[in-house]
Amino acid sequence: MKKILVVGGAGYIGSHVVKAILEAGFAVKVFDNLSTGQEINLFKEAEFVKGDILDKNAISSAMQGVDGVVHLAAKKAVGESMQNPDLYAENNIEGTINILVAMNKAGVKNIVFSSSSSVYGNPNYLPIDESHPIQPVSFYGYTKAKIDELLEWYDRLKGIKYASLRYFNAVGYDETGTIKGREKDVQNLLPIAIQVLDGERECLQVFGNDYDTEDGTCVRDYVHVSDLASAHVLAMKRMMDGGDSQVFNLGTGKGTSVNEIIESVNRVFNVGLSIKYAGRRDGDPAKLYASSKKAKEMLGWEPKFTDIDDIVKTSR
Ligand code: WQD
Repeated sequence: MKKILVVGGAGYIGSHVVKAILEAGFAVKVFDNLSTGQEINLFKEAEFVKGDILDKNAISSAMQGVDGVVHLAAKKAVGESMQNPDLYAENNIEGTINILVAMNKAGVKNIVFSSSSSVYGNPNYLPIDESHPIQPVSFYGYTKAKIDELLEWYDRLKGIKYASLRYFNAVGYDETGTIKGREKDVQNLLPIAIQVLDGERECLQVFGNDYDTEDGTCVRDYVHVSDLASAHVLAMKRMMDGGDSQVFNLGTGKGTSVNEIIESVNRVFNVGLSIKYAGRRDGDPAKLYASSKKAKEMLGWEPKFTDIDDIVKTSR
């Protein structure tokens, strides 16, 4: 049985990826420092090593006996990355270098990397495909773009194959309820709306309703975390079957506005969320949505969740 090392496998997306990889019949070893990942997200079927990617010895020894790596261990708050770039340079860029060096030493040849749509910055055109220029507007996005370049070099120089998966807006939780952990210190629209729903926050601030969109609020591509997870399995299998290195955008291709998200939460949970229209947030493009044609064609990936209400139902 092939064994996959899932770095960051106790986190929000990582735990869903572990579930999908186990279901696909692989053995899994999770490596996580539990900084944002949670013990409750660990699967008893998977081996667990508590460790930090900044600890070169720890990541090197975890690499022994594995056939592939899925790397999702990163800091991911856009605002924080602008305030504290050191944290992002170290955790994201240096941490990934340590993983690549450890892979190279151990002779591990396949990596699926958790990249981000934020590498594209303000879109020149829509939908955003993989040929769109890389022009990040946040330091967070810059770290992901730099890592994509590192992956390219390690393929060229050392034959390490990669699949870089550029997620659009990851949302929802496993619909079977197997994954119990809920993201802490949430920063994104839908989990914030759920906090308002649950009385943990007074109201939802809508950052701008004067954008050049149909209802004036920003449009994003919300993709279910379980659909993201299935793409990791497909990408890993493709490389193990001899496929070359590729970059894939992962989104549904459908744009949903902030107001539409609020309406969906109200409909699904039969509430009337308390909202307040606030000013625009710095750095928010009006519209972002993906073309995932390449993932569909080359990976046979098809998101199961396409209806926003179905996604919202799994978000609590
Ligand atoms: C969505 C929309 C906000 C909160 C970020 C990263 C991106 C990727 C996904 C990791 C925007 C609006 C939000 C609130 C609001 N992450 N909003 N009130 O910014 O599209 O993407 O997460 O790779 O890189 O940038 O997601 O959920 O923060 O915002 O009105 O309280 O909701 O302005 O239009 P975003 P988000």
